[in-house]
Amino acid sequence: MAGHSFSRDPITVPTVETRHRRIHTAIPAPGSKEILERLDRTESRSMHGQLPLVWDRAEDYNVYDAAGNRWIDFTSSIFVANVGHSNRHVSNAIRQTLDHPLYSCYAYSNEVRARYLEKLIAFAGRPFEKAFLLSAGTEATEAALKLMRMHAQKVGKRRRGVICIQNNWHGRTLGAQMMSSNLTQRDWIGYQDADIHHIPFPYPWALDDNSGEALLRKGLKQLADSGVDIAQDIAGFMLETFQGWGAVFYPKPYVQAIKALCREHNLLLTFDEMQAGFARTGKAFGFQHYEVEPDLICVGKGMGGGVPISGVIGRAAIMDLPDIGNMSSTHSANPLCCAAGLAVLEEIETRDLIAETARKGELLFRELRALERRYPDRLGETLGRGLIAAVLIYQPGTREADGLFASRVAERAMQKGLLVVHTGRESIKIGPPLTIPDEAIVEGVGVLSEAIAEISKEPSA
Ligand SMILES: Cc1ncc(COP(=O)(O)O)c(C=O)c1O
Repeated sequence: MAGHSFSRDPITVPTVETRHRRIHTAIPAPGSKEILERLDRTESRSMHGQLPLVWDRAEDYNVYDAAGNRWIDFTSSIFVANVGHSNRHVSNAIRQTLDHPLYSCYAYSNEVRARYLEKLIAFAGRPFEKAFLLSAGTEATEAALKLMRMHAQKVGKRRRGVICIQNNWHGRTLGAQMMSSNLTQRDWIGYQDADIHHIPFPYPWALDDNSGEALLRKGLKQLADSGVDIAQDIAGFMLETFQGWGAVFYPKPYVQAIKALCREHNLLLTFDEMQAGFARTGKAFGFQHYEVEPDLICVGKGMGGGVPISGVIGRAAIMDLPDIGNMSSTHSANPLCCAAGLAVLEEIETRDLIAETARKGELLFRELRALERRYPDRLGETLGRGLIAAVLIYQPGTREADGLFASRVAERAMQKGLLVVHTGRESIKIGPPLTIPDEAIVEGVGVLSEAIAEISKEPSA
């Protein structure tokens, strides 16, 4: 998130009062700066750099500060509040756990955990049979790495390589950073696991064919030329379901060709569904857009409706590879998180959020394509599916990335009562709670349009 530091000094901005937004103080609201400075003193710097909004509460598709300013939230915090912030059904489930009371019971069993896992497996559908629950997304991708390698060990492969995709991202712990290809972020490690490989991502604008298959063949040939035998040296593929920063999906034939390779050479196919899961793309899980069956999926974020829960889901034969005690964690599957996760799945079902997200996604993309036509000089590409989208921003009349402009637009939108995801790159990312009303989607894109128009007219910073 480097590149732009937002002003913390309150700036006088026009008042806003609509059914969905309210801005009635300077922004950031007086008092915000002092809280941000307290955090500067006591919290590691790596946590900072976000838009200077001090959240007081969040409900459904709105975020509020302590002064009562109200934002349309196009972030879901970071694709967490799929069922809406502070969802009542989820809150009741948490409250019941607190009243019961049982917050934590380590790996001892409890009934809500059994109920949750049954529901989660049913929700995930074929071919999934078992799950292992954790707290953070990065733990889930680490666990998948371990499972893929244990599988390769079991079937007697020579090496336990994992093929990942350039510029994908899987978390901030050691294995996750090695699977991610952000070189700056993994510089601290000092070496790269020789059995974690990266092949190019099939960006739609960089393909000679529409399928991406030629690029896949090229990537695999480079691996073969470096001495990697796909049958003997590879345990599996790790794919972020779409590339996060720009919500860039793969062409379907590219993923289907990977699946065919997996079948041919007994490799496991894993999707990192952290951002894509739990109805976000208009399907239960994002991999379903590619019409392939993965062996493992890594899930988190929207899974808990705001409480920290993540997991790996797969076939029993893979999930049972680690011995008893060899894959567990202090807070794995704790009763509070399981109760919240169960309530999230119930909400997705009772409110028909998969179909609703597909429908609202069409509305969102209609509005975003109109936005793209309004600013052809600046907006290059609108990517995504369902209620996850990214608008890519370029220097006027070129295809040169303009991350600074994107940051300034995000800041201006905030001053107008709209919160978008600030990626620190040339994308403005949009992922509202799936419960957002249609009218707020249209209003939010309208605010984005105003912000782009205003920043376009101002001198660059
Ligand atoms: C695709 C993807 N994988 C993994 C992670 C890591 O999740 P967490 O931050 O919960 O560790 C994220 C988080 O942003 C993500 O977007």
